[in-house]
Amino acid sequence: MQHLRLGVNIDHVATIRNARGGIHPDPLRAAKIAEEAGADGITAHLREDRRHIADYDIKLLSENLTIPLNFEMAATEEMLEIALAHKPHAACLVPEKREERTTEGGLDVLGGQNSLQKYVSELKNSDIRVSLFVEPDPRQLEAAARLGADIVELHVGPYCDAETPEERDQHFKRILAAAKAAEEFNLECHAGHGLTYETVEPVAAIPSIVELNIGHFLIGEAIFVGLDTSIKEMRRRMDIGRAKAVEQSV
Ligand code: PXP
Repeated sequence: MQHLRLGVNIDHVATIRNARGGIHPDPLRAAKIAEEAGADGITAHLREDRRHIADYDIKLLSENLTIPLNFEMAATEEMLEIALAHKPHAACLVPEKREERTTEGGLDVLGGQNSLQKYVSELKNSDIRVSLFVEPDPRQLEAAARLGADIVELHVGPYCDAETPEERDQHFKRILAAAKAAEEFNLECHAGHGLTYETVEPVAAIPSIVELNIGHFLIGEAIFVGLDTSIKEMRRRMDIGRAKAVEQSV
């Protein structure tokens, strides 16, 4: 079974910094604490409106991290230029709307294939691994494979936000089916959005998912217990989930 990586999304450290302007709290310092706490990668989303992460954060992260940077970006010329300048380990293409509070859904790879192809190709030509953030729908995965993406990140927000166990179970089944489809299409499978201590274990137990990207909950929890502790506790719960997958497969 492959190791399950934890990518820590530090966007909301920048959200707090930007609430007052200035330099505190520093996203790079948070990334370094995450590294020390056992994160396998750092994720940062440079949004068009720069509401949290700023251009200089991406520069500093690129220069100072010893673990991989996953650069979340919209498929725009501006972001492509920034990605090609910094050459992060991976770029995750996400849909972006100015009026949304956070990323609200997966990319429509199926419907937007022609416009995405250029971004996938140019990033890959620059040795940047390309991830597409998609709904857990096998048709979207098939389209992602056709475009030549290396990775799909499954949007698990609706599973995390489900209000009843039945609803959560339905969303979980979709995630399971999509993770299986990722294997069939030879896509590396990641998952993210909305994960918490309560929701992470079942997702961690899916063997073909090899990376979870988690931000908001970890940064929020860090207010109470510190970032090092919130990350270590998430890691512990991911390991518990992963161990269940091993038990199921023997
Ligand atoms: N993955 C993607 C593609 C995202 O857009 C986000 C949110 O920025 C995350 C993961 C992390 O989600 P959350 O902050 O809810 O943990």
